[in-house]
This record gives sequence, C-alpha cells and structure tokens, in this order.
Amino acid sequence: MSRIYKDQESIDALKVRDFFNGRARKEGNAVNAVMLQSEGSTIAVDRDIHEKTHLLPRLERPSKILELGCGAGRLARFYNDGGNRYLGFDFSEELIARAEADIGNDSNIQFQAVEVPRIAVEDFRLQPPFDVVLITGLFMYLNDEAVHDSFEMIAKVAAPNAAIYVRESLSELDVRLTLKEHFSEELDEVYNAIYRTTTELTEVMTDTLVEAGFEFEVCGEYAFPLALRNRAETAQRYFTLRRG
Ligand SMILES: C[S@@+](CC[C@H](N)C(=O)[O-])C[C@H]1O[C@@H](n2cnc3c(N)ncnc32)[C@H](O)[C@@H]1O
Repeated sequence: MSRIYKDQESIDALKVRDFFNGRARKEGNAVNAVMLQSEGSTIAVDRDIHEKTHLLPRLERPSKILELGCGAGRLARFYNDGGNRYLGFDFSEELIARAEADIGNDSNIQFQAVEVPRIAVEDFRLQPPFDVVLITGLFMYLNDEAVHDSFEMIAKVAAPNAAIYVRESLSELDVRLTLKEHFSEELDEVYNAIYRTTTELTEVMTDTLVEAGFEFEVCGEYAFPLALRNRAETAQRYFTLRRG
C-alpha cells in the first residue's frame, strides 16, 4: 500500500509472521529464507560469510547465548560447539521447525516459537543470565514500543559481564522509512518493515542498555563492504555493547 517517510506508523506483527512462514515454505536455502534478496542473488550468502568471519562476537569460554528473531537457526549452527548453550526465539513456527530439523537432537541448543518481547522470563527454556545476546535483522519488524521493551528485557536477562551484538537494516535518510502493506516486486510479496534512523536506534539502546550499565564498542558502523550493499535508502549497520 505505501512507503511512509518520517511518520511513526505501526505495522501488523501477524502479517510479518505470515510473511516469514511463507518464506520458510517456499525458499529452499535457509539463509535466503531470512536474509531477503532477489531471486538468483548471492548477496545473502556472501553477507552470511562476512558476518561470521568479521562481525560476530568471538567467545573466549563456554557461554550461554540468547538470540531474538533467530529465523532458521543460522547463528545457532555457528556457535554450536565449545560447550556453548543456546536459546533462540522466533515467532515463525515454520522457521523454528526448520531450525530444529537442521540442528537435530542437541540438548545444548533450544528454540522457542514465541513473539518477542511477549515472553515472560520464567518461561524461557534456558534460564538467564546470558553471556551473549544476538539480534540480527529483527527490530525492523517490531513497532517502537516493542523495540524498547525488547531492549529492557535484554538488559534484565544479560549477565553482569555480557556482550550484545545487534545488526539491523536502517534508514540512510534523515528520517525513518516505513513499508506498510507494500507490494515488493523484488520479493513478489506484500511486505511490512520499519527502517529507523541510526540515531533512533542508538537512542533507544542508550535509554535501556546504556542505562543498565552497557557501553558501546561499535555504534552504527556499516556491517558490510560496499560490494555487499545494494540499497539506496537503507543499509545494514551494527552495534556491539559490553557490560562489566
Ligand atoms: C530478517 S529475518 C533474520 C533471521 C535471523 N536473525 C538471521 O539473521 O538469520 C527476521 C526474523 O525475525 C523474526 N521475527 C520478526 N518479528 C518477530 C517477533 N516479534 N518475534 C519473534 N520473531 C520475530 C522473523 O520470523 C524472522 O525469522
């Protein structure tokens, strides 16, 4: 229906969930199912390699990891050794089913089909504190209040010495861009997402995580080299924070 510049418009979480359930059904490659690019493009796979090689936190000891919006378990596989324990949340039951099928029977890795941030801590299958929290490409599908509440939840369940990695698709303009019920020719689907400005996302992290004792190590740098950036109005940026 529309591209909305600047105004704070809400999107419908149920439509986002249906969209990702549809991706899980129709996309054979698990990376392409969640890192959205046009048919035949290798950018998603190349970004996956770059992120794993250059961006994700390296763990010095066995860690307890929480991932919000884990999709088909791309990062669960990456951390699946060294004695780590991992819990991934995603509200697409079909992506979670793929993640579980892919990982097989491994008691150190658990997934839960839940909507972020609508989950009580006592219902987490793996209990806090978490040493590492990962969020890649989630916040663009959450409305403002849910983004704020998610960061509050992260601050609460993170260990005193925790690391947080956030990679997000953000607006390259001075204002946010909201795609609301927008037909994407590239994806051949109706699509909903909110591309916030880097300043907006930094502010909400400052009000929640920095307030809870975290410090930025990286704050909004481009996640990928120019060859892996292909949009005019949006770009993937990343943040790392540490406490303790
Ligand atoms: C772009 S994909 C990224 C998946 C994964 N983080 C990765 O990088 O491979 C976004 C994911 O967020 C999930 N998602 C969106 N909104 C959510 C919400 N409110 N609660 C839980 N999962 C959500 C989608 O189902 C989808 O799997």
